[in-house]
Amino acid sequence: MNTFENDKVYVANTYARFPVEISGGHGSIVYGSDGKEYIDMGSGIAVNSFGISDGEWKAAVEAQLAKFQHTSNLYYSEPCATLARMLCERTGMKKVFFSNSGAEANECAIKAARKYGELKHGSDCYTIITLKNSFHGRTVTTLAATGQDVFHEHFKPLTGGFVHATANDIDDVKRLVDENNVAAIMFELVQGEGGVNPLSAEFVAELAKLAEEKDILLVADEVQTGNGRSGMLYAYMNYGITPDIVTTAKGLGGGLPIGATMLGEKVKDIFTPGMNGSTFGGNPVCCAGAISILSRIDEALLSDVREKSEYIKAELEGSQGILGVSGMGLMLGIETVKPAKEVVARCMEQGVLVLTAKTKVRLLPALNIPKAELERAIAVIKSACAEE
Ligand SMILES: Cc1ncc(COP(=O)(O)O)c(C=O)c1O
Repeated sequence: MNTFENDKVYVANTYARFPVEISGGHGSIVYGSDGKEYIDMGSGIAVNSFGISDGEWKAAVEAQLAKFQHTSNLYYSEPCATLARMLCERTGMKKVFFSNSGAEANECAIKAARKYGELKHGSDCYTIITLKNSFHGRTVTTLAATGQDVFHEHFKPLTGGFVHATANDIDDVKRLVDENNVAAIMFELVQGEGGVNPLSAEFVAELAKLAEEKDILLVADEVQTGNGRSGMLYAYMNYGITPDIVTTAKGLGGGLPIGATMLGEKVKDIFTPGMNGSTFGGNPVCCAGAISILSRIDEALLSDVREKSEYIKAELEGSQGILGVSGMGLMLGIETVKPAKEVVARCMEQGVLVLTAKTKVRLLPALNIPKAELERAIAVIKSACAEE
């Protein structure tokens, strides 16, 4: 049986895959097993920060592999400690818990928030407000956090203690704060899976004010927006706020699984040994890859990300068949006249891989996508949107 047949028979039926088998690539070019070449405008859903098989990242990963691939968290290892220090130095956060995915990073944030609520305000202070249309992961608890009913179907009862406010409606948040004993407010600064919708600056400023007044923790879910994607190292930096907890994953590892929960001043000492853990969390190979990624997300790269973002917006906004472009940095959503799925299929035929988010076409290219490849991809996307 070939890969398509094997996959259909033996892999659990949870993904609606495109009829393409990726066999390799370099940078923002990926190859199908049929030899077709594509410009990758999705980078593994914001994971391959420097594209496929990036040389520097590969060298860092291979160098660590040659030393040792894993040790339990009963022992110290240099890549884990170094990455934690780098994350703290770049963000002002104080401590980091490492896991393997975005959902786990959020689980850790939820545990930290619940313990903080209990310690500061009593055992019934555990409610977490999240936003409608959000996405926080697929575990039973992060599904409860996710403010979209469609993800809850079939899996109830979900973890209790989550209520959902309307994004960009501070009065709705205040109502929920009055009605519940709230420990934290958790939000994506740009709702990714929900359709690439940034929160408004006014709403985020009001959230920060409310959180400070009521001693409620602010938890920024930067699983998708983090690690340079928004044009700043973390998207909260575009808003001038300081969250108490920042979670991230995806692009941090550059293609290897890693989750990180960064704990700020209020919660830096919330955990004691045994309160959280992960067999693979802080894996030295994943951390070595992440160190290579993080050390290259510097001001020059970030300003290039912002410039490319402006270029894409200028090209697409007002173009035929395009109703608008939303998002920040290289996390953009295109509202199209045609159904997004048709645009995706047309682009794929023309050798460009794009994604969808709800009804929009979504772009999440590698942060270092070469300008010439970006220009070619944008030309294809424009014509796919415009065609009758
Ligand atoms: C904002 C956000 N949070 C959490 C997750 C879950 O991450 P993972 O699939 O690594 O568990 C995602 C994944 O798309 C996400 O976009």
